[in-house]
Amino acid sequence: MRAILIESQGAAAQVVEASEEALLDGAVQLDVLYSSYNYKDGLAVAGAGGIVRAWPLVLGIDVVGRVTASADPAWSEGDLVVLNGDGLGEGRHGGFATRARVRPDALVRVPASLSPLQAAAIGTAGFTAMIAVLKLADAGVQPGDGEILVTGAAGGVGSVAVSLLAGRGYRVVASSGRMLEEGDYLRALGASRVIDRAELSATGGKPLQSTRWAGAVDVVGSTTLANVLAQTQYGGTVIACGLAQGADLPVTVLPFILRDVTLGGANSVDAPLALRERAWEALGAELNLTQLDAMTTTIGLAEALPFAAEILAGRVRGRTVVDVNA
Ligand SMILES: NC(=O)c1ccc[n+]([C@@H]2O[C@H](COP(=O)([O-])OP(=O)(O)OC[C@H]3O[C@@H](n4cnc5c(N)ncnc54)[C@H](OP(=O)(O)O)[C@@H]3O)[C@@H](O)[C@H]2O)c1
Repeated sequence: MRAILIESQGAAAQVVEASEEALLDGAVQLDVLYSSYNYKDGLAVAGAGGIVRAWPLVLGIDVVGRVTASADPAWSEGDLVVLNGDGLGEGRHGGFATRARVRPDALVRVPASLSPLQAAAIGTAGFTAMIAVLKLADAGVQPGDGEILVTGAAGGVGSVAVSLLAGRGYRVVASSGRMLEEGDYLRALGASRVIDRAELSATGGKPLQSTRWAGAVDVVGSTTLANVLAQTQYGGTVIACGLAQGADLPVTVLPFILRDVTLGGANSVDAPLALRERAWEALGAELNLTQLDAMTTTIGLAEALPFAAEILAGRVRGRTVVDVNA
């Protein structure tokens, strides 16, 4: 098999030929068709601390593949499957490889409406966006309640969240640091307005500000999330998905105790199987595939090494698929 591997702690990620038998274990064996590139993959490829926790390790937090053999009776040769997170590319061998062996606990069938490439384009980012949208809806946020904010909108999670929310009839405001370059792109995904992320990122914002949002999907964290919470209307819900600006959250309790704001989270890595199946079923039914295709770029396995610098610098639009056989 061919794979992007980190041999030992501190070693650089590289493309290698490896012995599948010697390296991999897991009840379900796959021919990998595609993986995808997420912010976390950029961190892992670049050797940032805190992501990879076992060595040697095949990177790639997503895998889409065809089952070639399974010790688990739930899966048969030929099944098309998708696995997001579940420790792939962190503590278990991941999807930047031509072969994978995975545990069945978090494995989901690719919905019939999606091609393997589209399932990979959705990947962890799109799966996380869907979880966030489901959580907003479950919290009672309705399309008529007011504007829904999506931060980091031109990135992977943000792009899919804008598309999904607009598809459900919400009035979506996209916040981006690339308003000029990506404004048309975000409006084409369904954003009714695009705002400059500088409006939201200032430090020292008041704990309660004029209300603007009925809900929000935030991938940015830090002072941005603090300001978003301070601007959320009575009874609104904000789902925190990421930390592109920072992991800190300088807030007071005032938005919670005076405006009944709810702050929820989305975790794609440890999502239980029932939530995975619900999210993938909804993605298969709802996601606008013309928009998905338009936001997708495909790269080969070797290109995944230099690509880390691009995603970490915030220069990537939408979703990037890794064609592991190219
Ligand atoms: N909870 C989970 O399970 C889960 C799953 C997937 C991702 N995540 C997290 O969600 C975040 C986004 O992931 P992604 O895959 O969508 O990454 P991505 O494609 O790189 O998108 C991140 C976007 O955030 C914005 N951004 C970057 N740096 C920023 C800064 N300093 N301040 C404000 N905005 C900034 C940029 O959008 P604009 O150019 O439009 O401003 C960028 O495109 C990451 O922190 C990732 O770790 C979490």
